[in-house]
Amino acid sequence: MVMDGDIERVLWTEEEIAGRVAELAAQISDDFQRFPSPVVVVGVATGAFLFLADIVRKITIPIVVDFIRVESYGSGTESNGSPIISCDLKVDVSGKHVIVVEDIVDTGNTISCLNSHLMSKGASSISVCALLNKPARRRVPFKLAGEGKFYSGFECPNHFVVGYGLDFAELYRNLSYIGVLKSEKYNQAEEN
Ligand code: PRP
Ligand code: MN
Ligand code: MG
Repeated sequence: MVMDGDIERVLWTEEEIAGRVAELAAQISDDFQRFPSPVVVVGVATGAFLFLADIVRKITIPIVVDFIRVESYGSGTESNGSPIISCDLKVDVSGKHVIVVEDIVDTGNTISCLNSHLMSKGASSISVCALLNKPARRRVPFKLAGEGKFYSGFECPNHFVVGYGLDFAELYRNLSYIGVLKSEKYNQAEEN
């Protein structure tokens, strides 16, 4: 089975992703260096695992790293509108500045759910760093707590994209680039 054959076209290569990740990390290091206590960087599992691993190694200020697991897509291509936090944080974020690291912000449901969740845990501010932003699909506007900032790597066209952490039915996360999945791949799966 060859994964590349399922991809209609590549949107961002491994090199382009690495370049943008380094820029985002430099921006974040600059913006957060004034805070005396370490910022908590929260990766949203599973999709953000590669982006998180890459960006934290380019951030030059002290940080704490943790994961949270939120899911709303299951094995389909549409958000079910109510994300579930299926595995919560280990570290205490109360009084801390938090940066949520996401592979993609699509409808906004996941970020909006996380923003309320982290606010209820007493975070001082909540920022979001998303590699991809797909504004064409936004359903839920979100206002980040405590004047948090929104960092985004690339604006994503309105196609179903996979790779570099992003999945369809848990597959394709291990592609080193991001590309558009051939529509016959998910139509096929929905017919089955
Ligand atoms: C995907 C993606 C984001 C979220 C974005 O996660 O990784 O977390 O959806 O979509 P939204 O803005 O419409 O909420 P998914 O629920 O598929 O879980 P996964 O990360 O395990 O793939
Ligand atoms: Mn996710
Ligand atoms: Mg998914």
